[in-house]
Amino acid sequence: MKDNFIITIDGPAASGKSTIARMLAARLDAAFLDTGSMYRAVTLAAMRKHADLQNVKALLEVIKTGRFEFTPSPGGMKVCINGVDSTEQIRNPDVTANAKFAAGPGEIRKELVKLQRAFARRYGRIVTEGRDQGTVVFPHADFKFYMTASPQIRAERRAKELAEKGIRVDIDTLQKEIEQRDLSDASRKTGPLKCPKGAIFIDTSGLSIEQVLEELLKRINEGNRKTSSKKKENKKLASVKTVLYKICQWLVYRLCQAAARCALGTFFRVYTVGRQNLPKKGGFLILANHQSFLDPAFIALPINSRCAFVARDTLFKGLFGHYIRLYNAIPISRDRADTAGMKRCIDKLKAGFGLVMFPEGTRTADGRINAAKPGFSMLARRANVPVIPTLIEGAYEVWPRNRKIYTFGRISIIYDKPVAPEEIKKMGERKFGEFLTARLRQMQNEIRIKDGKKPFEY
Ligand code: C5P
Repeated sequence: MKDNFIITIDGPAASGKSTIARMLAARLDAAFLDTGSMYRAVTLAAMRKHADLQNVKALLEVIKTGRFEFTPSPGGMKVCINGVDSTEQIRNPDVTANAKFAAGPGEIRKELVKLQRAFARRYGRIVTEGRDQGTVVFPHADFKFYMTASPQIRAERRAKELAEKGIRVDIDTLQKEIEQRDLSDASRKTGPLKCPKGAIFIDTSGLSIEQVLEELLKRINEGNRKTSSKKKENKKLASVKTVLYKICQWLVYRLCQAAARCALGTFFRVYTVGRQNLPKKGGFLILANHQSFLDPAFIALPINSRCAFVARDTLFKGLFGHYIRLYNAIPISRDRADTAGMKRCIDKLKAGFGLVMFPEGTRTADGRINAAKPGFSMLARRANVPVIPTLIEGAYEVWPRNRKIYTFGRISIIYDKPVAPEEIKKMGERKFGEFLTARLRQMQNEIRIKDGKKPFEY
């Protein structure tokens, strides 16, 4: 059984639910909530004040101004009204007869439902009984029961109960009263008496109290066994799914890399410098300038360890979304501080991936390198991995931002010396951003001069 739980028992008057709920609560070490007592307490408080029982406002005033305390006690539930123990008095026949005035109006029920939910929050493990517990008050209860018996049997039981207290009543009159209460409980607009969805129906007509209690305990044990084996099955299924997904990711990544190597190798002349700077083991963060749509592929292709990429969350739609997810793309929102996305990046780095990011934030408009936005180095520090400043040059000429189709050409990729997380920490976010921008610009101009292109002025 869970640490905290809610068990509801609904049913008509004198169906035996109070006795059973009290006994069940004792067996399960839970608090017993007798909601009928709440309606009775409001009724008694109103009667003591000589309030007009048919006036909803007057009854609401009684609730607002009165001090009602409902506390679990060894015998069930103790009821105090304005500091006076009224546990016995609320059982008086005149209170029973008048309780319908408090039970009918939706406004009153709303107030008492609040108290019932507060009781559940306070005591955690509860067995509650009433008319609307499984339907309105706790529709998501762990176990719901609905108990009933024929009106004749209920009348006989109630008469016996009263006889034990020395009160003699006529059984036929009692049965009529019970039938009237059934009708009034079942026909009201708010919280009418009915069997809750998913409740276990128990007809107690031919059963003793002990038999009913055993039946409830049996059903609860069966339910617990089912939920725990279901949970185990779900857990197993989830871990199989995760393993299968990881295998798929690995296959897709390797296949795509092989295909991309063939395709890009055929169409472009890709030159790489500094592959020895890439760590052989463990994660690393590649911070590169961004020239074209193909940059992630160009940068990751020469790397043997698996790479992950960061992509705008809006791209993760349909088939393309599935594909990039399998290709280790991590969705990040551009519109807000995406802490969950950042955590996913850190997890990938810690898992030994090379994470490719573009700290300029967007592709260059003219081939130049824009200033790196701060914050990227935080990932390296948090995951304790080095940063590899990486330059891509030539991709802008091949596929600039405003062109629909690419041309053939030469692409250079330079992986610079790693910057250790301790160095980044020493420099601080802003300084590291400036260092990265300056270093990439310097590398770019050096390669441009080598290729016979004009260096950029900054
Ligand atoms: O269960 P008990 O007889 O103590 O309930 C007193 C009255 O409170 C009942 O006549 C019933 O109309 C009302 N009641 C209710 N909703 C509940 C519990 C009791 O309307 N959840």
